[in-house]
Amino acid sequence: MDRPYVFINVAMTADGKIDTSARRGAAISSARDKERVDKLRAESDAVMVGGRTLLDEDPKLTVKSEALRAERVGRGLPPNPMKVGVVTRADFKSHSKFLHEGGARIVIFTTHRTSNEQLAFLRSQNAEVVVHDGERVDLQEMMQALRELGIKRLMVEGGATLNFELIRLGLVDEVSAYVAPMIFGGETAPTMAAGSGLERSGAVPLRLIHFENWDDGGVLLQYKVEKVS
Ligand SMILES: NC(=O)c1ccc[n+]([C@@H]2O[C@H](COP(=O)([O-])OP(=O)(O)OC[C@H]3O[C@@H](n4cnc5c(N)ncnc54)[C@H](OP(=O)(O)O)[C@@H]3O)[C@@H](O)[C@H]2O)c1
Repeated sequence: MDRPYVFINVAMTADGKIDTSARRGAAISSARDKERVDKLRAESDAVMVGGRTLLDEDPKLTVKSEALRAERVGRGLPPNPMKVGVVTRADFKSHSKFLHEGGARIVIFTTHRTSNEQLAFLRSQNAEVVVHDGERVDLQEMMQALRELGIKRLMVEGGATLNFELIRLGLVDEVSAYVAPMIFGGETAPTMAAGSGLERSGAVPLRLIHFENWDDGGVLLQYKVEKVS
């Protein structure tokens, strides 16, 4: 299948949590990590998030650094990469930051469970909407569609369910994690990959390709996802 190069980036605690059990988007990244994430966004053609992260946290997903935005423009690109949302039932508020900040091209992949009023609203806000027939968005079809829209490098910024589904389907090439020196604990606190989980025999193998030990106490891990033949 012709699809973009896909990498997941997360900030997690030493116990693998990407948020507390309160699920309010707890701050985990250090200042240096935020700069790294900004650079990754600036180097990507599109940035994607899953439905719950999108609707509960309404992330802007823009490039924060003016210099990085200018650099993109110098390369003939828009200042911000395309924003992509994957959501079974879209329910954006009229003042959504995701929809309105940064002037980026926006593509929402959703299903028939999104109301006609919401579809009309999204389109009136210049978002492109792709409605899939099934109960959930078909992620393989979505990847192909993104490639057809010219996306070569796709950054996935969570959350746990979307990360897992993409990994399970073999749609991820690389996983990067900033591991912060802290523990959240909590049975219901999300980890990097949630969903239905895999049997031990079906575990997705990774190969460590890079790591850094930072002065802020954090560790940066970069893995290549090994192809299972
Ligand atoms: N620290 C970090 O780096 C980081 C980054 C991002 C998010 N987070 C955290 O992650 C948590 C949210 O994660 P989450 O697992 O609850 O949700 P999520 O992965 O953000 O969103 C998952 C939702 O996407 C929708 N979806 C539609 N089609 C899908 C498909 N084919 N496969 C998978 N999902 C599909 C589903 O909506 P329906 O349920 O309506 O079907 C699903 O619930 C938050 O606490 C957030 O703060 C942390």
